[in-house]
Amino acid sequence: MAGQIPPQFIDDLLTRVDVVDVVDARVPLKKAGKNLQACCPFHNEKTPSFTVSPEKQFYHCFGCGAHGTAIGFLMEYDQMSFPEAIQELADLAGMTVPTTSFVNAQPSRQNLYDLTDKVSQYYVHQLHNHPQKTAFVNYLQQRGLSAQIIEHFNIGMAPDGWDNVLKTFGANDQARKQLDEVGLLSSNDKGRQYDRFRNRIMFPIKDRRGRVVGFGGRVLDDSTPKYLNSPETPLFHKGNELYGLFQARKANRKLERIIIVEGYMDVIVLTDHGITNAVATLGTATTPDHLRQLLRSAPELVFCFDGDRAGREAAWRAAENAMPLLGGNHQLKFMFLADGEDPDSVVRQQGAEQFNRLVGQAQNYSDFFLATLEAQVDISSMDGRARLIEIAKPYLRQIPAGIYRDMLEQRLAEKANTNTAMLHKHLGKSAENTVKKHKKPLKSSSAISPIRMAITILLQHPELHAEIGAFDKLASLERAGLTILVQLLETLSQNPHLTTAMLLERARDSEHEGHLHQLAQQTLTLSAKELQHELTGIIQQLQQQAIEQRHAYLVAKGLGNLTDEERIEINSLNS
Ligand code: GTP
Ligand code: MN
Repeated sequence: MAGQIPPQFIDDLLTRVDVVDVVDARVPLKKAGKNLQACCPFHNEKTPSFTVSPEKQFYHCFGCGAHGTAIGFLMEYDQMSFPEAIQELADLAGMTVPTTSFVNAQPSRQNLYDLTDKVSQYYVHQLHNHPQKTAFVNYLQQRGLSAQIIEHFNIGMAPDGWDNVLKTFGANDQARKQLDEVGLLSSNDKGRQYDRFRNRIMFPIKDRRGRVVGFGGRVLDDSTPKYLNSPETPLFHKGNELYGLFQARKANRKLERIIIVEGYMDVIVLTDHGITNAVATLGTATTPDHLRQLLRSAPELVFCFDGDRAGREAAWRAAENAMPLLGGNHQLKFMFLADGEDPDSVVRQQGAEQFNRLVGQAQNYSDFFLATLEAQVDISSMDGRARLIEIAKPYLRQIPAGIYRDMLEQRLAEKANTNTAMLHKHLGKSAENTVKKHKKPLKSSSAISPIRMAITILLQHPELHAEIGAFDKLASLERAGLTILVQLLETLSQNPHLTTAMLLERARDSEHEGHLHQLAQQTLTLSAKELQHELTGIIQQLQQQAIEQRHAYLVAKGLGNLTDEERIEINSLNS
């Protein structure tokens, strides 16, 4: 998508709009040195760690790691798509988005959303009007769902038959192609297409903005598969979507807590009982993507699982995925229901009050973490305690250095009957390194590779590229990160006035995007002059290495074997 808008236009756009105005209009900012600050809109906090840099045209939260340009901010905060954010900023700046490829590209995706929306309405319509609706209506009634909640979640029915949707929505090839694209069709060996969802209760899955991106379909009886979900499509990635998140955000002006349950029916029945802050993953483990979205929506997450083995394992997977996100101002908790129960059965049998009580008693992350590890060893023996530390090691390394990890380590040390100094010794180098790196901002190239340092400086102070001297030989070196560095240098020599934000927008959707964003947020403590010196030094050194390498190659080839051009080259390298 990004590639369809000329990068030049995005540069112009980012020159005309100020990220400070864009953010300030939504989240009032206060001056803090050369930057501006506010409490982060993407996570709950009492002291501001959300900073906007007018110079870099970039925002960054030290608490939750949210970051990006003016475009990225609109995408996150107003939940706009990339083209929508571009349009919004263009309107603000009084610019016209180049029409050719761009506007043409947009409708196709919009068409897909329109289609899923219409099909969703069709399923709802069937539930009210289809001659065979009784079985479906009875089923939902028997599960205790009120008419309001059926409407609230837009629950519908896919009638029995191979081609109800196909006939209704697939009038021509183009329409059939779109149905297939959004995952509503299946096909047999002979390539014959038919409705994917047949004779099922239909649950539309909405994204955070309320657009229907996929469906889950449940059978009425015990046949299998019990649930059929949309496949991965351009609109639907199950590792990103959370069933009920849209409804939960809509029902609560500010979510203090989100309960993550396992099933569609759990979300629906809880909501029906007034517990409007439940969401479900779609038959997958909670992914890091899920976690990031959830933590932007509420400061406290409670994972609710069955108390059986499968439930505990699923909880542990969620806990593992959450490790890199621990600390900060959010809380993660776990609750386990009695074997054979799920939130649906608990709330129906014991009521919302009791369910809320159980939520209130959920186990802290650290308790769950330590108890799970402890259960794997014999804590009463020295061997067992040593083993506890061994198995905790790889996990602790994933937790960001900071007070949270320190305290967890302290508790682990207590359990193992040792002290944190001893623990640190055994956690090995890498854990200590992260601690150090965290406490001491990057100083010189010794902490990170020179190439990484050069990229970081260029990204954060693009204007410094002007004085670096020659870099024409660099590309021949084989080093990690070198392609990024060379690309950056070339981009800047062709477009000398790019800002950090523009460089980042040029990397949107590229394989380097994540890496560059990370480097753009590193703290550089050197003065501009020192940075210039550092950068120039690194580039010169790399250039020199490239020259030496080329020289050695030509010498090794043997003077007699060189072409005329190579002879001239080796002479020039000698001088
Ligand atoms: P009910 O049996 O109607 O109460 O369903 P539930 O929503 O409580 O689901 P359950 O706890 O059995 O499973 C949890 C989730 O796993 C479901 O909501 C689905 O997302 C997913 N799931 C369950 N069964 C299947 C299946 O057969 N196939 C697939 N793809 N997903 C399933
Ligand atoms: Mn259930």
